[in-house]
Amino acid sequence: MLLLAGCRQDMHDQPRYKPLAQSDFFADQRSARAPVEGTVARGHLNDDTYFYTGKVSGQAGEVFPYPVNAAMLARGQERFNIYCSPCHSRLGDGNGMIVQRGLKHPPSYHEERLRKSPPGYFFDVISNGFGQMQDYSYQIQPADRWAIVAYIRALQLSQGAKLYDLTPAERAQLPAAPMATTAKAVAQPMAPKALKGEAR
Ligand code: HEC
Repeated sequence: MLLLAGCRQDMHDQPRYKPLAQSDFFADQRSARAPVEGTVARGHLNDDTYFYTGKVSGQAGEVFPYPVNAAMLARGQERFNIYCSPCHSRLGDGNGMIVQRGLKHPPSYHEERLRKSPPGYFFDVISNGFGQMQDYSYQIQPADRWAIVAYIRALQLSQGAKLYDLTPAERAQLPAAPMATTAKAVAQPMAPKALKGEAR
């Protein structure tokens, strides 16, 4: 018993500082020491430059850092509808509710220049903002930014898509009455003859 008690006493008496207590030992009198300059917290090395910047030698990159799949698109759609659609609208044409209430009208994603802009460019706009648009680097983590970019690509594709880009099974799922947003696609010829000539 005595031996055990002695052990415990040692542990109780070891020299230590209470968090943020004053210290006479260090010149600045702080017991809490700043990490050595250049210290990187575990898991924060961020050495995959492309994933974190979307740039290759200062230029917007042409590819996604990893293959796009359905789960990534679904995540991108969800994040886009939350963070971007209030201004850019769910269609990406820039007629979001905040814009209808007077904010500067962003360009439509469907204009030629943005259709041709590479994925890295969109990643950069989300990360660093653009003109009057603030950046979303705090709210949206890099993986979600890439997911949003993938979804923007899908939006762009959807607005230029032709009916014959779809498989017969996909076409069968289209609503019978043309909706405003799909009118362009529905107006395309459906006859097998036309399909033959236009198939990709
Ligand atoms: C509060 C409104 C608002 C939100 C939310 C918003 N944007 Fe923007 N965005 C703008 C405005 C305004 C511009 C045009 C800025 C300018 O030209 O000064 C713009 C421009 C852009 C551009 C075009 C840049 C160019 O080259 O013309 C892209 C791409 C873009 N935004 C993507 C996004 C994405 C992705 C999100 C969501 C993560 C988002 N924006 C959220 C308002 C917004």
